[in-house]
Amino acid sequence: MSLTLKSGFSFDYDNLYGEGKVTEADLKSYAEDLKKAHEAMKVMREKGFIKAHLSKDGEPEKVLFSQLPYIEEGHLNSPKSLAHLKELTDHVKGNVDAVVSLGIGGSFLGNKVLFDVHCGAFWNAMSDEERKGFPKIYFSGNNIDPRSTGDLIHHLESQAEIVKTHKNRKYKVLLLVISKSGGTLDTMSNFMVIYDQLKKCDQIEVEVVAVTDPNEQKPTLLKKLAMEKGWPTYSVPDGVGGRFTIFCEVGLTMAACIGMDIEQFLAGARDMDEACKNDDIWQNPAMLNAALKFAAAEKHGRDIEVMMPYGDYLKSVSEWYIQLLAESLGKQFDKDGKEVCYGRTPLVAVGTTDMHSQTQQHQEGKLNKVVQFIKVAKWDKDLVIPNVFPEAQKLADISGVTMGEALEVARQSNEDALSSNQRFNACFTLPELTPYHLGELLYMLAMSVAYEGELSNVDAFNQPGVEAYKRIMGPKLQALKASK
Ligand code: PA5
Repeated sequence: MSLTLKSGFSFDYDNLYGEGKVTEADLKSYAEDLKKAHEAMKVMREKGFIKAHLSKDGEPEKVLFSQLPYIEEGHLNSPKSLAHLKELTDHVKGNVDAVVSLGIGGSFLGNKVLFDVHCGAFWNAMSDEERKGFPKIYFSGNNIDPRSTGDLIHHLESQAEIVKTHKNRKYKVLLLVISKSGGTLDTMSNFMVIYDQLKKCDQIEVEVVAVTDPNEQKPTLLKKLAMEKGWPTYSVPDGVGGRFTIFCEVGLTMAACIGMDIEQFLAGARDMDEACKNDDIWQNPAMLNAALKFAAAEKHGRDIEVMMPYGDYLKSVSEWYIQLLAESLGKQFDKDGKEVCYGRTPLVAVGTTDMHSQTQQHQEGKLNKVVQFIKVAKWDKDLVIPNVFPEAQKLADISGVTMGEALEVARQSNEDALSSNQRFNACFTLPELTPYHLGELLYMLAMSVAYEGELSNVDAFNQPGVEAYKRIMGPKLQALKASK
């Protein structure tokens, strides 16, 4: 059983729905709730309204992520904003040597997905020509780790030495500082350290682009600095929470810096949104995914979701999804203030890598998981495994097929093994790993948690839990500074 869209994107739920799995009766018991959830999504699209959603300051706040795929005048993504992003592309291409993207959580995870999928692991080792003039990309700010930050600074200084020797010019570094609140410790501490050190290096020319809340009346610290120092800015708009920012200028500034096709990425999200407007659950991937996962957890105790794409460069999709699921649905209280302690626990896994570690647990451990595969049907530049050692029968046996085919045989074998032992699993298939299909997948997952928020009656768009440690950390930092 699968739901396949015109684009070829499909959701195969054969091993999640049916006898001994989520049943027709399970879904029927949610018929009313599903109808209401679907109505709530319509209201969210039209008015940006989600029942009981409040900002972290306790104020009513719009939820606007579903507007992002539509590039229209007056929208958060508009022809004008795309032209502004094109200015960033034109500026960095052939002019900037390295971009350091600084951010954490929602201001990092999506950008890492776009980088990994578009650029791969060896982008920074490629020549300028191979990168088509786009800059090298580094990430920082997603930890407060003196060693990795020090290593990055040292590396940039060494690169600058090489450029000075061979090209007799300065090395140009653009710090892309991304923080909606504009003052996050992790991001801003790294920014200050890196900015300060690079500024002191004669061989390096530093520039800054700030991505933050655009409000000029009540500017964030970062916005204020940008206004004072004349740094170009891009927006993290109101109504778009961190985990949805991949579709706004947070993700799109990264896309602009690496030459990824922004319009195709948003087109995939847009076509997925259209599919998710379907009232029929069997034709609506987000509603179906949410209903099956919700029922698997509530009726069958499968409340851990292992997000397991097959392919190295998709690991960051799992990491992005971890934040999406955890922050959206891990809630102590429901929308009526009742204590529910809801949430399915997300786990990162990658095939085939984790078949040699986690799979033992998935196959024989507690019956509390859904393994969610992601498969790429057709790999660009697939490699045939050659018969280079014909005398070794075992190696000769695996030759003649492509690596992409072998990867899929491994995934299918895992799927079959899990299914044969009552282990719930499902598969999303991307016809190819393109910006369009990536946009489809990520948007479907975002929309799915919005549905699940309604089904579980929790606010999927706040994250009050992350404030708890922040309230403790602030005074601790102050005390540390005072003791110096
Ligand atoms: O989802 C979220 O809101 C968080 O993960 C934030 O993105 C993260 O804390 C970074 O916040 P900011 O962008 O304000 O620096």
